[in-house]
Amino acid sequence: MTDKVAKLSLNGSTYDLPVLSPTLGPDVLDIRKLYGEADVFTFDPGFTSTAACESAITFIDGDKGELLHRGYPIQQLAEKSTYLEVCYLLLYGELPTPAQLADFSARVTNHTMVHEQMHYFFRGFRRDAHPMATMVGVVGAMAAFYHDSTDINDPWQREVAAIRMIAKLPTIAAMAFKYSVGQPFVYPKNSLDYAGNFLHMCFSVPAEDYVVNPVLAKAMDRIMMLHADHEQNASTSTVRLAGSSGANPFACIAAGIACLWGPAHGGANQAALEQLRQIGSVDKIPEFIKMAKDKTSGVRLMGFGHRVYKNFDPRATVMKQSADEVLDLLGVHNNPTLQVAKELERIALEDDYFISKKLYPNVDFYSGIILDAMGFPTAMFTPIFAIARTVGWISQWKEMIAEKNQKIGRPRQLYVGPAKRDYVDLRHR
Ligand code: ACO
Repeated sequence: MTDKVAKLSLNGSTYDLPVLSPTLGPDVLDIRKLYGEADVFTFDPGFTSTAACESAITFIDGDKGELLHRGYPIQQLAEKSTYLEVCYLLLYGELPTPAQLADFSARVTNHTMVHEQMHYFFRGFRRDAHPMATMVGVVGAMAAFYHDSTDINDPWQREVAAIRMIAKLPTIAAMAFKYSVGQPFVYPKNSLDYAGNFLHMCFSVPAEDYVVNPVLAKAMDRIMMLHADHEQNASTSTVRLAGSSGANPFACIAAGIACLWGPAHGGANQAALEQLRQIGSVDKIPEFIKMAKDKTSGVRLMGFGHRVYKNFDPRATVMKQSADEVLDLLGVHNNPTLQVAKELERIALEDDYFISKKLYPNVDFYSGIILDAMGFPTAMFTPIFAIARTVGWISQWKEMIAEKNQKIGRPRQLYVGPAKRDYVDLRHR
C-alpha cells in the first residue's frame, strides 16, 4: 500500500482515489467508494482494466511473457517440479518439504475413486455427448454425492472438497472418455503417479496389460502443470463469482468447467487442432491466413493470441519442447496436421498482421498437437485442461472464501434500454 492518491474531477468536484501498490504489476486505483461519494460507476466490459480481487497465488507480466506461481517462474517449475508439487504450492503457498509432499500425494491418491453410484449417473448421458458436457454434469453432481464436504464455512470440509476434486477429476474425465468410446470404465491404480494413472484410466482395457510410457506420463504431467493456474482468467473469475454467493465448491468448479469450454478459452485447444485438420495441407495455408486477417470472414487463427501475453506465452515455449519430445518418441514426423502446424506457425510469426497485433502461438496451439499424438480425440483436449485447472480454481476459491470481508460479486451496468414508460394494454398495441 502507498499514500499515493489519484484525483478525479467530475461536475465541479474533486474526488480522491487511493492508489494501491501491489508486490508486482501496475498500481491499482481503489474506486470502492466512488459510487457512494460521486454517484458514478466505472465502465469496463471484459475487465480489461479492472482488478476484481486481491490474490497472492499467480502473477503474469504479459509484456515480459512471465508467469509466476507464488513467485516461482513457470519455466523453473516445468523443469524441476511435478504437477502434484505445483498443486501443493498453489493451494498452500509454499513448496512442500519431502514429508509434506508425501502426505499430500497420499491424500490425493486415497481419493481417486468415485462413489460407485456415480457410474449410473454417467450412463444417463448419450454416448455421443461431449465429455465437457458430461463433466459439467458429473462435477456439479458431486455435491449430491459428497454432502460431508459442502459446508463452505468449515475449513476442514473446504480442504476435503479440494482434495476430492483434485483426485477425482482425472477419474471423471477418463470415465467420460471411456463412456464415449463404448469401453468399460477403468478404476484408478494408486501405484501409478497422477499423470500415469490418468493415461492408464484412459488407455488400458481389461483384455490387455497396459504399461504407462514414462515419457508420455512426463509430458502429461507437464501439460497439467502448465495449465494449473493462470490468475483471474474467465473460468477462474467464474468460479470466484459463483463462490461469492456461498455456493458449494462442487457447484463452483462445475461453473468453471462450463466457462472453460468456450473456444476463446479452454476450448481453443480442440478448436486449434480441428482447424489444422480443416486446413489439411500446407498449400491451403495462404488462403486461410487471408481469411484470418479479414474480420468479415469470422475466422480466427485458433491457438494464437492472448488477452494478457503480448510477446510470447511462456507456457507455449515449454509446451513446444514437450511436443518435440513426444513426437520424437512416437516417431510422428510426417503427419499432415503437424506439417500444417509448423508451416502455419512459421508464416504467422513472419506476417505483419500477426506481428503488429502481437499474436503469438499460445499454450493451446502446442498442447493439442501432443494430445493428438498420444491418441486422445480432440473432444478430450478441453477436459484435460479442466483436470489441470481444477487446482487453480480451488486455490482461488479457497483464497476468496478465507477473506474476512468477502462480498457477493455484483457488477454494475451502463443501462442503454428504454427509459421508464407506461404499460400499454394488449388491445391498444
Ligand atoms: N486470429 C486473427 N486475428 C486475431 C486473433 C486470432 N487468433 N486474435 C486476435 N485477433 C485480432 C482481433 O481481430 C483484433 O483486431 P483489431 O484490433 O484490428 O480489432 C486484435 O487482434 C485484438 O483482438 P481481441 O479479440 O480484441 O483481443 P482479446 O485480448 O480480447 O482476445 C483471445 C484474446 C480471445 C485469446 C483472442 O486472441 C482469440 O480469440 N484467439 C483465438 C482463440 C484462442 O487461441 N484462445 C486461447 C486463449 S489461451 C487460453 O485460454 C489457455
